[in-house]
Amino acid sequence: MIDTQFVTVVKRLALLLIVLGGVGAVGLVITYEVIGVEWLSTMEVQESLRPMELSLPVPQGSVPLQGAAYVAEGGTPLNPVEADQVSRQRGQQLYEINCALCHGAGGQGDGSVAAKLRRKPANLTGPNVTGLQDGDIFMVITQGVPGLMPALRENLAVGDRWDVVNYVRTLAK
Ligand code: HEC
Repeated sequence: MIDTQFVTVVKRLALLLIVLGGVGAVGLVITYEVIGVEWLSTMEVQESLRPMELSLPVPQGSVPLQGAAYVAEGGTPLNPVEADQVSRQRGQQLYEINCALCHGAGGQGDGSVAAKLRRKPANLTGPNVTGLQDGDIFMVITQGVPGLMPALRENLAVGDRWDVVNYVRTLAK
């Protein structure tokens, strides 16, 4: 003979477990960001720039560690790095890390993410780019192309950029 009162207690306990389990499950789903909740973070409520978001000009009077990247009034900068084997090899490594995903390993504009972009990345072996001066390519890397290509000066130091330029020069051949 099971006491009916005992049955009611068990039923209530079971119900309580189900409710608590449900709440716990929802909590876990949020904790592990299966459902992402945008919690308000006061650190974010301020004017801030995310990496590569905006290309700001070099602050006036600042002295870069590796020599001036470029002088705003000076026109297209001249390439100070000799295109020797060392520079081109370094350039190739940096190109494969920073550029190939969009421009493709061979520079044809067919990198792995190219199809997902609004505009096809430039073909670096085509006349539009081979006709550019070294300094023009340097400035594209430095400042990006607004809305199309990110400025990569945070990723590549001044000397690195010239190495990449020297390597890009070899792609057309
Ligand atoms: C996120 C993708 C992306 C990455 C990464 C990227 N580019 Fe680009 N790049 C583009 C796109 C898109 C264009 C085409 C812009 C247009 O159509 O005017 C472009 C254009 C160019 C141009 C031509 C600019 C002109 O004036 O015609 C050059 C040169 C270039 N990129 C070099 C590079 C180099 C070197 C790197 C690596 C250091 C690089 N890009 C990394 C997307 C990218």
